[in-house]
This record gives sequence, structure tokens and C-alpha cells, in this order.
Amino acid sequence: MNDLMTQTKINIIPNENSRLHEVDFNNLMFGKKFSDHMFVMEFENGTWKEPAIKPFGPIQITPALNTLHYGQAVFEGMKAFYKDDETINIYRPKDHFERMNFSSRRMGIPETSYEIFITALEELLKLDNKFVPRLEQSALYIRPFIFASDDLLAARSSSKFSYYIITSPVGAYYDEGFNPVSLTTTKEYVRAVVGGTGEVKTAGNYAASFLPAKKAKEDGYTQVLWLDAKEHKYIEEVGTMNIHFLIGDTLVTPKLTGSILGGITRRSVLTLAEEWGYKVEERRITIDEVFEASDNGTLKEVFGSGTAAVISPVGLIHHEGKKINIGIGSIGDFAKRLYDEITGIQYGTIEDRHNWIHSVKV
Ligand code: COI
Repeated sequence: MNDLMTQTKINIIPNENSRLHEVDFNNLMFGKKFSDHMFVMEFENGTWKEPAIKPFGPIQITPALNTLHYGQAVFEGMKAFYKDDETINIYRPKDHFERMNFSSRRMGIPETSYEIFITALEELLKLDNKFVPRLEQSALYIRPFIFASDDLLAARSSSKFSYYIITSPVGAYYDEGFNPVSLTTTKEYVRAVVGGTGEVKTAGNYAASFLPAKKAKEDGYTQVLWLDAKEHKYIEEVGTMNIHFLIGDTLVTPKLTGSILGGITRRSVLTLAEEWGYKVEERRITIDEVFEASDNGTLKEVFGSGTAAVISPVGLIHHEGKKINIGIGSIGDFAKRLYDEITGIQYGTIEDRHNWIHSVKV
């Protein structure tokens, strides 16, 4: 893997003026406050080089920056959790790293090495461990991202890239917290097509969803429940999370057809449900099937999964003028069990039988 780089030693420049006192850990908004340090590395002349950790702060860019015009950029979203004063747990870093390289390949961005990724995370956590929240439902959100940094307006792949990792203490992602969110489908817009970029974490996927999400909010829904782009029939994902349906005793999860992001928390949900003896089906599921299951009383629970969202119950789905209510206004037993198990593993109160945790001594 070191052929991806000319140098793996990270140059650390510590921050002299901590902003820790600015963080109100009791009122954390998602992604609003940042830790004292960030990781930076540049790709030039065919190699990644000069890995460094520096004080978090503004960066200088040219107005001709490729990313600003053409969006050649990828990112990840992952979390670290406070276990005790000496230990911070990172959740499934290898899986996030592999997904970032998967995204990079699709977007024509050079891959990076796991060695530098995990070393950078460990060093960042050692320096900024005080930013890892101690409160329930809180964590340190980790945002690695890579963007094209050529200053050239020609519409072609950049030859230079910048790689950053920033971290942010966060609470619940949705304003609803643990209360069920509401979702609406839309016929007007689509999120992704097979062969496009829907299965990777690239900036444009999210930008394109902001207007539909705003309209959904204006209509009183938390988010859009995306249907497939071709037939407007099959359920895909929510954009900020994957989606799951408990129908009878079967957990039905939309299959990764090429336009859905393969969530890491989604994977954990499938593994745990199988271990707990549920029938687990990854398959295409239509919105009509969900409404029918609601009508005939077999739709027991609907919930989303994601790094930011963790496990988020869905209490209402709107589709073409019809609405179904799911559950009784609070999280269902199955979703709660998943939430407790996953967060228990993350915080280190439940045994990590799957090797999902990378512990860092700080
Ligand atoms: C995550 O769950 O980490 C995501 O990347 C979703 C994001 C849009 C907040």
C-alpha cells in the first residue's frame, strides 16, 4: 500500500489556542463545532505526500479550483466514541476506509492507504480526545474528504487532490432526536440512476437532494424517501440514511442495485438481525408493498440506519396523497434493540464480537 505514498510519517503541528471551551456539550448541533486539529495530505505528480496534522482552520483555495466547478470530491462519515478516560472507540474504520476508496475509484480520485488513514485518526484522537463527548447519544463525528485541487477550468479529471480529515462533536442528527421521523416520496425528482454515482459518497449526490428535501420539509416531512429513477416504484434510501422494513418477522432491506449507498450501519443491522434469528431479505421492495403491509397489519416497524442517524425510527410515510402511520409514536422494540446493541458496542459496554471496534489509547 505504501506505493500510494512517498512518505508515511505525519508531521504534527499542535494547536496553541484550544477552542474546547466554545463547545457546549449539552447542546450539540450536528457538525457545527470542530476539534482543534485536522489532517491534511496532498496528491501531486502521481503520489500522495506531506501528510500533516495542523490546527483546524480556514484553507486557501483558488476560485478556479476544479471541485468548485465540477464537484470531483468524495467523503466519508464515521464516528468515535468515549469508552473511558484512556480509550476512544472508532467504529468500523476499515469499512469506511474501503468505501472511501470505492468512491474514489468511481470519481477518478487516487486511492489512499489504510496505514495513513488509521494513523491519522489515532493521532487526531490523541490530540483532540477532550472533544469526544461523554454524553449519551453523542459522539465525535469524523469527516474524511478528498477533493480535486487543480486550478484549471477544463472539464477533466484533476491531477492534484487534497485530502482532509476533520472531526466534530455531535449529538442526534435529526431534530426529532429519538422520536420517529416522517418521510415522503416524490415523483418530481430522482436521487440516482444505476451507473451514476448514487452508490458512492460524492458531494453532488447530496447537493442534488437539497431542493427536494427543502420541499419535503415545507410540506411537513423530515426527509424524502427516494424511489428508483426508472419506474418510481422501488424503495431505495433516504439520502441521509438507508431504510429497513420489519414485515411480520422478516427484515426487508432494499438491495444494493447500484444506485443506493452501501451503508456501514446498514451492514451491522443485517448482521445482527440474522444473528437474532430474524429472516433477513435484501431485495427490491415496492412502495405499494409497504402500504399493503400497513393495510393488512403486517408492517411492524420502519427505521433508517446510518452513521449520523444511527437507528432512526420512521413514524409516517406519505406517497401520492396517501399516508401510513407506523408504530405508536415512539421507537419500535426491534429498532430499539438494534440501537442499544450497536451503541453498546460503540461505547464499549457490549462485547465487540464482530471486531467492529478499533480502540485508541489516548
Ligand atoms: C453519515 O451518515 O455519516 C452521512 O454521511 C450522512 C450525512 C449526509 C450527514
